[in-house]
Amino acid sequence: MAFESQRVPEGEARRSRRRGYPSYEEALRLLRSYVSDEKTLKHSIACAETAFEMAETIHRRHPELPLDPEKVRVGGLLHDIGKARPGEHELNSVAILREEGIPELADIVLHSYPYEIFLCKGEERPEYLPRSLENKIVVYADFLRDQEAREVGMEERIAGIRARKRDETERMAALKLAEPRLLRLKDEIEALLS
Ligand SMILES: [Fe+2]
Repeated sequence: MAFESQRVPEGEARRSRRRGYPSYEEALRLLRSYVSDEKTLKHSIACAETAFEMAETIHRRHPELPLDPEKVRVGGLLHDIGKARPGEHELNSVAILREEGIPELADIVLHSYPYEIFLCKGEERPEYLPRSLENKIVVYADFLRDQEAREVGMEERIAGIRARKRDETERMAALKLAEPRLLRLKDEIEALLS
């Protein structure tokens, strides 16, 4: 179901069509239509909030940069929608948002470390690296809100993932490989925030 076909007030739907991505309320309805797990919903809402705050600050300080804080907010909200399907949820999120006819959002929700997961399998897939500032803010925001939606630091969150997934050898090897890149991403965003 494309997001525009959902039952929403006409004014809101018109604004969404003009923007090219759904409003926060539409996106929340879309997320709930895929994901019922309360933990994921809570984390997603927290991630959207953190992503929006960072994007607004960066936009204020660097108005010359291509950055739409509202788009980042909605992208943050939907980044884990792929958890509704089996397999790598990071890639599923991108696929679902494309199927839903929202390529603008599909382009900014690639998070975690799928690039390194494929690298560990001997495949180099540079298309799985976040490129835009909007995508990088979503990635960083995801690391700043843990599974319980608590505010944490990136290093603390990585340590938590490592403890939780210690039996998933392949994923842990990928995380180790990804860590320097993720810390560089953190530094890049923090420099824009300060
Ligand atoms: Fe997440």
